[in-house]
Amino acid sequence: MSGWLQTPLTEALGCRYPIVQTAMGWVADANLVIATTRAGGFGFLAGATIPAHELEGEIRQVIDATGGSNFGLNFHMFQDNAAQCVDLAIAYRLRAVSYGRGPDKQTIARFKAAQVLCIPTVGALKHAIKAVELGADMITIQGGEGGGHTGGVPSSILLPQVLDAVTVPVIAAGGFATGRGLASALAAGAAGIAMGTRFLMTRESPTPKATLERYLKVNDPQQVRVTTAVDGMRHRMIENRFINHLEQAGPFGRLRIALGSAWQWKQHTGMSLGHMAGVFLRALREDPSALSQVVMAANQPVLLQRSMVDGQPDDGILPSGQVAAAIGELLSCQEVIEGIAREAEQCFDSLLARQGSQRPANQPISIGEPL
Ligand SMILES: Cc1cc2nc3c(=O)[nH]c(=O)nc-3n(C[C@H](O)[C@H](O)[C@H](O)COP(=O)(O)O)c2cc1C
Repeated sequence: MSGWLQTPLTEALGCRYPIVQTAMGWVADANLVIATTRAGGFGFLAGATIPAHELEGEIRQVIDATGGSNFGLNFHMFQDNAAQCVDLAIAYRLRAVSYGRGPDKQTIARFKAAQVLCIPTVGALKHAIKAVELGADMITIQGGEGGGHTGGVPSSILLPQVLDAVTVPVIAAGGFATGRGLASALAAGAAGIAMGTRFLMTRESPTPKATLERYLKVNDPQQVRVTTAVDGMRHRMIENRFINHLEQAGPFGRLRIALGSAWQWKQHTGMSLGHMAGVFLRALREDPSALSQVVMAANQPVLLQRSMVDGQPDDGILPSGQVAAAIGELLSCQEVIEGIAREAEQCFDSLLARQGSQRPANQPISIGEPL
């Protein structure tokens, strides 16, 4: 491998390639992280959907299989077991944590003391600035074309904005699946790329066949659209029967659908009626007009579970980046990562060849300097 792909990301995260597999609910499990790590990338476990009693086992599984803690854990401060995620990441000295709505300064100080790097994901410039003020060691920007909860600014605009505003390394996410994408992000000054959808669509992905076939069928990026019908926030997903039904239902219809899913989630998790009633009453107090959204947000795992675990792609939600439309086959994580690395190097080499100069062997690319 040449020096083009050695960046502050590979240095800080201790991986061979500047390629990150992001956390995805019900998808980024120990097996996916193991496959990513073995292939030279850096993987995050999806702490938000791994049941609390299994989380430590998943962490140990990755450590045992890869011989170290060179991987990360993703969590959200609003999830029930956020404190457990923080404690486990510190106890096992994981290399990094990622999160959306972030922990407070005290928690970040605990991570720093344990040398766990904090890498929040942001969808807007102001959130990047705030995250760095709070102590982020790196920032992942997610452009609006990215999968799951997503902002409205495309990667091509957000990346340079954030690069200009912060001094920590920046990872580009949202719409990446190729070596050309990696080369362009590095040339712009990013320290690497992070991908969700491309890793979801791999052979090591735990996603059921029927659901993966649905992802493979998408061939128009417009079929992967944003809806706010699920929880009031921008959420990018593949259009399907469930989402159309939800959008067309009136406020009462939505509430009925939300309560139905909440009931299913209760049966699955053993959640008490008291807890369910608490969510309901809190929503009523906070904003009665957003009741269905709050109830729906609370039981989002079940909507994901139907499609991503039970293999019923029309009965749940299918979070996805628009890039799904450009992915035509399931490759192994190794094929994905090595293919992207190879293509990125070719891009840099052909740029130099066009200028008539040759890259000195093993000369690392200097991030932030023009080629
Ligand atoms: C199925 C799916 C589930 C996701 N779940 C989470 C999650 O639990 N936590 C999180 O921070 N981001 C989540 N995301 C967002 C991804 O981590 C990532 O930022 C995004 O997929 C990047 O854009 P891309 O899909 O174009 O690669 C999810 C994305 C997908 C596609």
